[in-house]
Amino acid sequence: MDAQVLEQLYEGKAKKVFKTTDPDLYYLEYKDDATAFNGEKKGQIHDKGVMNNEITSLIFEYLAKNGVPNHFVERVDDRHQVVKKVTIVPLEVIIRNRTAGSMAKRLGLEEGLLLEPPVLDFCYKKDELGDPLINNDHIIALKLATPDEVKEISAMAYRINALLQKLFLECGLILVDFKVEIGRLPSGALILADEISPDTCRLWDAKTLEKMDKDRFRRDLGRVEEAYIEVLKRLRSELA
Ligand code: TMP
Repeated sequence: MDAQVLEQLYEGKAKKVFKTTDPDLYYLEYKDDATAFNGEKKGQIHDKGVMNNEITSLIFEYLAKNGVPNHFVERVDDRHQVVKKVTIVPLEVIIRNRTAGSMAKRLGLEEGLLLEPPVLDFCYKKDELGDPLINNDHIIALKLATPDEVKEISAMAYRINALLQKLFLECGLILVDFKVEIGRLPSGALILADEISPDTCRLWDAKTLEKMDKDRFRRDLGRVEEAYIEVLKRLRSELA
């Protein structure tokens, strides 16, 4: 990157965002901090920032090559990335291919049931409310996005799902569910932003169904770092 890094703009639970001398670019720092249950459970996962930086970089490059525009510009070093400056649409866009997590709990379902077609959930990104589930009408009435944007975001989410399901299956992993965030460029165009990593996906080993994601931290299953290392290793051999 030619631009210089300027002051910190924001610190989230997993990343810090810095301004740069280029008004169109931000500089991201991936942290080792891990939280779950809306910040109630806090911890650290050794080198998570390093692994999620590389995992997200590999995945965002793969998605860009396959026609999903996103904010990724370059990975600078172990923990840092340059990305396009966007305004994040305050939604967590979740796709579920199998029951797990909050859906399994809310509906009293066992985990791992196939969902056909996949289920799209929207949550309102508001920490103080615990990111409540909302629907298309809420999004439009609250003016979080226009009706056309909701359609576009939904189509992007399904397209990302198809591409990620294929990629992860080639890595011997089942994509159970995942969350993405969408950003608005100054032009108004919508692009994929934030990260895609074992923090934001549920990934099960296709042979053993072992959990290979942040559920190992959420549920104290042990061997958390090892799961992230294994996901990175498989993605590298598929993509790098
Ligand atoms: P959920 O089952 O807890 O609703 O999570 C669905 C998916 O979204 C799962 O892959 C984890 C991811 N997720 C995040 O990335 N951030 C969050 O804050 C939450 C609650 C879930």
